[in-house]
Amino acid sequence: MKVTVNRKAHFNAAHRLYNADWTDARNATVFGKCANPNYHGHNYELIVSVKGEIHPDTGFVMDMKVLKQLIETEIEDQFDHKNLNEEVEEFRKLNPTAENISVVIWNKLRSKIDANLELSITLYETPRNFVVYSGE
Ligand code: NI
Repeated sequence: MKVTVNRKAHFNAAHRLYNADWTDARNATVFGKCANPNYHGHNYELIVSVKGEIHPDTGFVMDMKVLKQLIETEIEDQFDHKNLNEEVEEFRKLNPTAENISVVIWNKLRSKIDANLELSITLYETPRNFVVYSGE
């Protein structure tokens, strides 16, 4: 029997989406407003999902206090109120799309969470646009 526990978190961050190999016109066509050279912000909503067996001693899949602290330290402290392109090492050469941000978050948390537990990241870039990454 496996149960998924979820923790919601939030960060505000700025980004610009562009491909340096393309012209400004092509970047504008593909990335729209997100290609704005002067950056812009999003209110990212993050859901970290951890799936596993319920531990008989605690009744927990994972201690949510520990998960909350991990998200604060590994994600919120690193991303909140940052310019992702300029200030977060992982995005120096990686386009900070919602897709890539979700993979970076997964990678940051994976090694900190018990290997017996499955990890999935849901990231909302807008209230209507969201991505899911589960390590596949
Ligand atoms: Ni954007």
